[in-house]
Amino acid sequence: QVIRLSDYRPPAFRIRHVDMRFSLNDGHTDVETVMEMERAPDTDAAEPLVLDGDALTLIALDCNGVAIGAERFEATPDRLTIRDLPPSGPFTLRIATRLTPETNTELMGLYRSNGVWCTQCEAEGFRRITYFLDRPDVLATYRVRIEADREAAPILLSNGNPGEHGDLDGGRHYAVWDDPHPKPSYLFALVAGRLDVLTDTFETQSGRDVDLAIYTEPGLADRAAYAMDALKRSMVWDERRFGREYDLDVFNIVAISDFNMGAMENKGLNVFNHKYVLLAPDTATDGDYAGVETVIAHEYFHNWTGNRITCRDWFQLCLKEGLTVYRDQEFSADERSRTVKRIGSVHGLKAQQFPEDQGPLQHPVRPRQYREINNFYTATVYEKGSELVRMLATILGEAGFRAGMDLYFARHDGDAATIEDFLTCFAEATGTDLSQFALWYDQAGTPELYVTEHFEAGRLTLSLRQSLARGAAGTGIEPMHIPVRFGLVGPDGTDLAAEPTAGTAEVEGDVIHLVTAEAEVVFSELAERPRVSILRDFSAPVTLRHEQAYEDRLVLARLDPNGFGRWRALTDLVGEALRAASMAGAGRPALDPRLIEAVVACAAEERLEPALRALMIALPGEAEIARLVGSNVDPEAIHQAREGAIGAVATAGAETFRRVRDGLERSSGNFSPDAASAGRRALSNALLMYLSAADGTPALAAEAFRAADNMTDRMAAATILAHRFAETPEASEALDRFYADYAHDPLVLDKWFTLRATVPSDATLDTVRDLAAHPKFSMANPNRARALIGGFATGNPRVFHQKDGAGYRWTAERLGELDRLNPQTAARLATAFRSWRSFEPVRQEQARAALSALASRPELSRDLRDILDRTLS
Ligand code: ARG
Ligand code: ZN
Repeated sequence: QVIRLSDYRPPAFRIRHVDMRFSLNDGHTDVETVMEMERAPDTDAAEPLVLDGDALTLIALDCNGVAIGAERFEATPDRLTIRDLPPSGPFTLRIATRLTPETNTELMGLYRSNGVWCTQCEAEGFRRITYFLDRPDVLATYRVRIEADREAAPILLSNGNPGEHGDLDGGRHYAVWDDPHPKPSYLFALVAGRLDVLTDTFETQSGRDVDLAIYTEPGLADRAAYAMDALKRSMVWDERRFGREYDLDVFNIVAISDFNMGAMENKGLNVFNHKYVLLAPDTATDGDYAGVETVIAHEYFHNWTGNRITCRDWFQLCLKEGLTVYRDQEFSADERSRTVKRIGSVHGLKAQQFPEDQGPLQHPVRPRQYREINNFYTATVYEKGSELVRMLATILGEAGFRAGMDLYFARHDGDAATIEDFLTCFAEATGTDLSQFALWYDQAGTPELYVTEHFEAGRLTLSLRQSLARGAAGTGIEPMHIPVRFGLVGPDGTDLAAEPTAGTAEVEGDVIHLVTAEAEVVFSELAERPRVSILRDFSAPVTLRHEQAYEDRLVLARLDPNGFGRWRALTDLVGEALRAASMAGAGRPALDPRLIEAVVACAAEERLEPALRALMIALPGEAEIARLVGSNVDPEAIHQAREGAIGAVATAGAETFRRVRDGLERSSGNFSPDAASAGRRALSNALLMYLSAADGTPALAAEAFRAADNMTDRMAAATILAHRFAETPEASEALDRFYADYAHDPLVLDKWFTLRATVPSDATLDTVRDLAAHPKFSMANPNRARALIGGFATGNPRVFHQKDGAGYRWTAERLGELDRLNPQTAARLATAFRSWRSFEPVRQEQARAALSALASRPELSRDLRDILDRTLS
């Protein structure tokens, strides 16, 4: 059924404290939960208590120590209804349940991963452990006692601070954990098993000593060193930037092999997909290092934005997620390069959030309804949600934003809050009316921002207009507050210090506040016509339609002093050229010589950091070009156009590229994951791709593969071989070597599965069929399923969208299989079909047929059914 924001009612009962006892055994786990409860004031004293469950078996039930008679309760697997509870005052409810974590393949609730007992409760997994008011506005303190065999589980962990522990009869032992901070059930966690540990300590700014620990499967603790370093840097950063200190005696992280998502911020006990903890130069790429840093920071930052202040209901998910993504992006920007980080975030937003916002899965940043909340952990809630916080910071300025955050932390600590609560803090702290800004949370879709310029007699007039189409989410189309950061670039490549002299939009520093459907800004007494660099730093999540002379754009691509503006000018030109070429069909050269020259020149430009040069010379991916084309998309034509462009850039730039690459310092055995070294590797490998294309043989990449002393270089070379020289002995040799060297290492083996699934050749459909039957393939492991199915469906546009529909059918069939084990992961992967209506008619029909066949299965999960229904609607 449909859950609606407008139906929100506060809970009729409160749970003050929860005392849990877990007895872990091979084959079953007994759970006893004792809850100190009372009715909420002003509620009907006759109202029964209705607790949430999911696939539960009730073993015992009593109130204040007396068993509740069968006539007073009704227990089903997903609900426990109890009547005639005390009309007022506190009472104690005891519930016993029995679980089988061994057969829990959904990986929600309590399950076992490689023998390790672990939990995932967000959003609604706690109800798979015990009957509970499993909603985020019910906050309780917890005491948890875990008992298990000492051999099977020497490590016993839960939230909060460690308490008593000791031995029991029969080779068993126990440990007690106390969490003094009231929390909602989704932040509950338990981990038990044979684990290794890496420890460290941290002293907070007020002098509290915190014991830090990262637990891994045996033998892997040394691979957590970078994660530990990132954790300590995150703790320092949150103190300095937001004045937020850690609040328990211990902070524990556990790396788990089977995990539906990236990681989870459970209070004092973060549980991670091991992909976001374990790193070694030989097994992890620079991208993996950056990912670990981001996710470690993200989960740590949730301690304040998510845990101390949580969400009133799941419609407010962006309250914690958008804000925490903003915080982790700012952390990475401070730790690495701000420009490079911003480009990466914008690139991700356009690749993930824009298609979502422009297709059938569209929803507002704060949705108004859902059928399955797990399907709303989306790019819109997370990434667009973070853009809204970023706009708030742009609109209010650094000091105003910090004042609003301070008030939010002071006023709502311990609360389950709403977006209104959040915005009110900023409005009050700065005396700003944010009612128009609030529309960003409720109006779905990507606004279009039209900009035209007119220059005459030293006067520049900028005309801005916004428009938002009424989309699938059926939301309003009121003009929003769009902060537009800009610069006027003079002929020498520096920003002019021009103040507006007239206009209908307010301008503050370098930000135009567009708050109406249309507005103008006028600058006078300009000696020369400046080049307008607009929407710098992507100051709002909009589609920019700037009518600007091609010449001006080429100039900005060369000398916009704003690194982001320069990247945007160049990559937008290239993107539009590739869009035009793919629509014109075969035989038309994609890029004009001046554009090619601009790309080549970037590679050699010493004043740009190497990471930025690597981003500037990378052509937009095929999925990105498809998005630019928008409708009647032909992925084959896009592939051909892009390959043609790569060939043209490679030929024109070969000499420059060779010289630049030879001049880059190499790591030579001393691997360092720092941003500058990673940037040099990124540039070197981007150049290697072009040089291999120019050369037309696998020789260079084969040599680079052999010489690689780290996974970044090895993976880059292997990708060139597999993708560009698929049929050559060099490619098969490299893939075989890669497999032989890493078959024992699950995280690297995932890369091998993805690498093979993303080869853009006709033979790949047979390859993925074989890989699905490979002894190392497992549907039950989400990382492996994502590596193969997700790698193919989102990383291989040419073959996934093959015209005969075979790619769609193979994917849909695998999703049907996966759904029986793990609905959440199946539903997530099914979003690969979200843009199916933008393709040409034959492919649309093939996709519709494959999706309909999947949707016609009677036994589908609610998760997958919801995605399919919305995708097909
Ligand atoms: N809160 C977690 C994070 O952002 C992710 C939880 C995802 N849960 C889900 N049901 N998909 O760090
Ligand atoms: Zn999060």
